Amino acid sequence: MGLRRRLLGKLAGAAVAGGLAGCSQFRPGDDGSANLDLPSNPNDVPARQHAWNDVSRRDAHGNPLLPRHHRVLLLDLAESPSVEAAERVERAMRGLESAYDWSSDGLLHSLAWGTSYFERVGELDASPIRKPKVLSRTDDPDLLDFDAALVLAGDAASHLQAAEAAMFGSRGSLAGTSVDARLGDVFDVSARRTGFRGAGLPVAHTDAEGIPENPPLSEGDRMFMGFRSGFRGTQASEDRATIGSGAYAGGTTMHLSHLRQSLGEWFEAFDADERVARMFSPEFSPADVEGFTDDVPFSDEVTRHAREFDVVGHQEKVAQTRKDGEPLLLRRDFNTVDGGHAGVHFLSLQKSLSAFERTRKAMNGWYVRDDSPEITDRENNGILNFVSVRSRANFYVPPREERAFPQL
Ligand code: HEM
Repeated sequence: MGLRRRLLGKLAGAAVAGGLAGCSQFRPGDDGSANLDLPSNPNDVPARQHAWNDVSRRDAHGNPLLPRHHRVLLLDLAESPSVEAAERVERAMRGLESAYDWSSDGLLHSLAWGTSYFERVGELDASPIRKPKVLSRTDDPDLLDFDAALVLAGDAASHLQAAEAAMFGSRGSLAGTSVDARLGDVFDVSARRTGFRGAGLPVAHTDAEGIPENPPLSEGDRMFMGFRSGFRGTQASEDRATIGSGAYAGGTTMHLSHLRQSLGEWFEAFDADERVARMFSPEFSPADVEGFTDDVPFSDEVTRHAREFDVVGHQEKVAQTRKDGEPLLLRRDFNTVDGGHAGVHFLSLQKSLSAFERTRKAMNGWYVRDDSPEITDRENNGILNFVSVRSRANFYVPPREERAFPQL
C-alpha cells in the first residue's frame, strides 16, 4: 500500500468518525445531492444512467442487443470529497457525452459508487448497497470494495479505448473535442475488467485458457458457452430495476462478479442435448432453443426435472425468482479473457441487492439435491460445474443528475 493510499485510509477514517465533518466543503441540496456550480447538462441524454435499452441495437425479435465491447474501470478516490471534485467529475462525464452519442454506436456509460465510498462518508447503512458476501459453498471469491466504477460500453472498441485514455491518461481530445476535465484527477484506477458480447467475438478468443481446442463454436455465437442470452422476457425492464422512492430514487444497484469458465468438459463430454439440459432445462431440445424468440417458455418444474432426468438447467432454476412473471435482474454481463482465461464479468442491475442474492441462491440449486443422487453442488446442476467465482463487488448507480458524489 503506497503512502497516498495510507493517508487516504486515515482521511476516510476521520470522515467516518466525524460524520460528515471530513466533507464539510459540501453543501447538500434539497434533494441530497451536492449543489454544483454548473449550468444544466446541455447533452441529449436520459435521466437514468442505466437507460441503455432504447438506444441499443435490436435483433429481429426486438430484443435489445448489448454493445459489443465492455470495459469497467474500478476506481478509488485520490482526494477527499469536495464540491470542487464533484464539479470536475461532472464536467468529465459531460465531456464523454459531448464527444459521443448516447447509443451503442457512440458510447454508453455509467458512473457507479461502491461500498468503500459509502463507508468513507458514513452512509453505507443508509445506502441501498452492502458489502458483497460469499453466496455459494463451492466458491471462495475475493470480496472487493471500491469507491466507484466507470462502466463503458459500445460497438466500437476504439471509443472505449479513447474514453479511457482521455479520462485517465494523457489524451487531450475526444472525437475532435478537447478534454478539459478528467476523472483521473479525482480517482486512481485500481483494477480493470474488459470484455465483449456479440457474434464473431467468442470464436476470435478461443485461444484463451479454459476453452478446449476446436470448440464447436461458430461465427454466429455470441457467448463462450454457445447460447443466446438476454431475451426481452428473461430480463427485468429498466423500470423494474430502478429504485422507486426515497433518497436513492431513480438509481439502481449494480453487482459485478468475475466468473472463470472451464469449458473442456462442457464441450467435450456433453452433446448439444446435454448442454441444453444444463443451460436451460431437460424439457427442451436444441431445436426448441433455436426457436426461442423473445422469451424462454419454461414450465417451472425444477423438482420434477431433478427426479425424472437427474439434471436441472440454469435458466429454469434462476427463473423461479421471477415476480409477476418478470425477472428481477437486468443482466449486462459479458465474456472476457482477462488474465488470459475465459470468463464472464457478470454485471447485473436490480432494485435491491437482495434480488441478486436470492437469484444466486436459486442458481445454487441446493434445494434439488435431495431429489436426485446425481445432482451435487456442482454436477448436473445447471452450469455450476463450469464456472467459479473469483470476486464480487457491489455498487449504486445514481440517476445522472446525482452521479458526482451522490448523497453527500
Ligand atoms: C457463466 C455465467 C452465465 C452464463 C453463461 C449464463 C447464461 C444464461 C443463459 C443462456 C440464460 C437464458 C437465456 C437468456 O438470458 O435470455 C440465462 C438466464 C438467466 N440467468 Fe444466467 N448465465 C450465467 C450466470 C448467471 C448468474 C451468476 C446469474 C445470477 C445469479 C444469472 C441469472 C440469470 C437470470 C435471472 C436469467 C433469466 C431467468 C428467467 O428467464 O427468468 N446467470 N443465463
